[in-house]
Amino acid sequence: MQATARLAHATITDSYRLRSVCRSIKSTVMTGVPTIDKRLIYRSQPFGFDTSMLAGILSSARRNNPQLGITGALVCRHDLYLQLIEGPADSIDTLFARIVEDDRHSDVRLLLTEAMDERLFPNWAMLDDTAPSQFWSAQDVAAGVLESSSPEELRAPFLRLSAAHPGG
Ligand SMILES: Cc1cc2nc3c(=O)[nH]c(=O)nc-3n(C[C@H](O)[C@H](O)[C@H](O)COP(=O)(O)O)c2cc1C
Repeated sequence: MQATARLAHATITDSYRLRSVCRSIKSTVMTGVPTIDKRLIYRSQPFGFDTSMLAGILSSARRNNPQLGITGALVCRHDLYLQLIEGPADSIDTLFARIVEDDRHSDVRLLLTEAMDERLFPNWAMLDDTAPSQFWSAQDVAAGVLESSSPEELRAPFLRLSAAHPGG
């Protein structure tokens, strides 16, 4: 009986994998391009920022992101969330739609989306960093510096973070 259950489980798991591969092949055939991974960076304004709220957000991220194949980093301080998420494009779109609706922050602004072939945070379901000195000042953020930053400038603090925290 147990062997039958194991076989059923294996068949279901294999069927998920097979469907995922088929989706990818179908998409490649139909569009001529392979399914791609995606990187997304947004900023938002924390609403009632404190350590327990941050712990709740990180706990959700670290629980959910591995199942979605998503990794990333969240820069967090009283005036700013700046988050980078990377992974399968569908998963990124689904997660971002959920994050936008979250009432623990407001004024969510998408700053960058790009195709990606190498992750910046392969070992982190969600790295968090509160070191404000590495980033733009609160005054600069309020003045809209992030919205006028180039992709290179937006990636730069995450590249530094990634280099400083290679492990998971
Ligand atoms: C700034 C910010 C970043 C977040 N990042 C993530 C994330 O990376 N992954 C995630 O699953 N939820 C994230 N969330 C939480 C989601 O908005 C949502 O509450 C959560 O995914 C719901 O899943 P849960 O019911 O398992 O907690 C974030 C929320 C905020 C405010």
